[in-house]
Amino acid sequence: MNSEAIREKFGDDFVADDHTYKLGIDHRFTKHLSDRFHSRRVLETCTGAGFTTISLARVASHVITVEINLSHQEQAIENLKRAGFIDRVTFISGDILNEEILKKLPPIDAAFLDPDWADIEPGHEYFFLNSNTQPPADLLFERIFRITQNIALVLPPYIDIRELKGLPENEREKLYLGESHELFCLYFGELLLTSGETEFRVPI
Ligand SMILES: C[S@@+](CC[C@H](N)C(=O)[O-])C[C@H]1O[C@@H](n2cnc3c(N)ncnc32)[C@H](O)[C@@H]1O
Repeated sequence: MNSEAIREKFGDDFVADDHTYKLGIDHRFTKHLSDRFHSRRVLETCTGAGFTTISLARVASHVITVEINLSHQEQAIENLKRAGFIDRVTFISGDILNEEILKKLPPIDAAFLDPDWADIEPGHEYFFLNSNTQPPADLLFERIFRITQNIALVLPPYIDIRELKGLPENEREKLYLGESHELFCLYFGELLLTSGETEFRVPI
């Protein structure tokens, strides 16, 4: 993967492959997304190559992060070393929807959920209910909500927001790079600042 592109998207000399590059969140968003996790014990799912893990580890008291793909996890471990936060992160390998993994999680008080939707291109139909992300966003939310109600859930910009109607009270933040709507982030529980739709813009 081109190191200049990695530096531009993630802010430093990190490792990534084509897939983890594409699904990693831009560094102009990760600090903002992590701000609400100050001093919390955070469960992150899923790790990818660790670009949100780095931002969370900077502010959280500890991060427990779960990833199903070993190659992604190896990249994340290397990136956390490079960022200097390896001691603040516990890495778990496996499927976050596996009951055995859920049962063994250490205590947490908030969760950051970023399922994989990199292959869902604009124009593809995206479903939140019976979701086509990996893991499915609706199932993931339901399972983690049993552990903590303090959740941030990242979703693609092309969701049909009518599908979110049954969810608990939330703040639905639209994140923009310039005029381009890149992501939604839904905040629940103590992470919610204002109920309803808000926006965060990075000028370019
Ligand atoms: C969108 S990426 C996370 C990117 C990360 N937030 C970043 O900014 O670098 C989603 C990750 O979920 C992983 N994943 C998919 N299904 C999973 C599952 N059932 N359990 C744990 N991880 C899973 C994928 O391998 C992928 O690395």
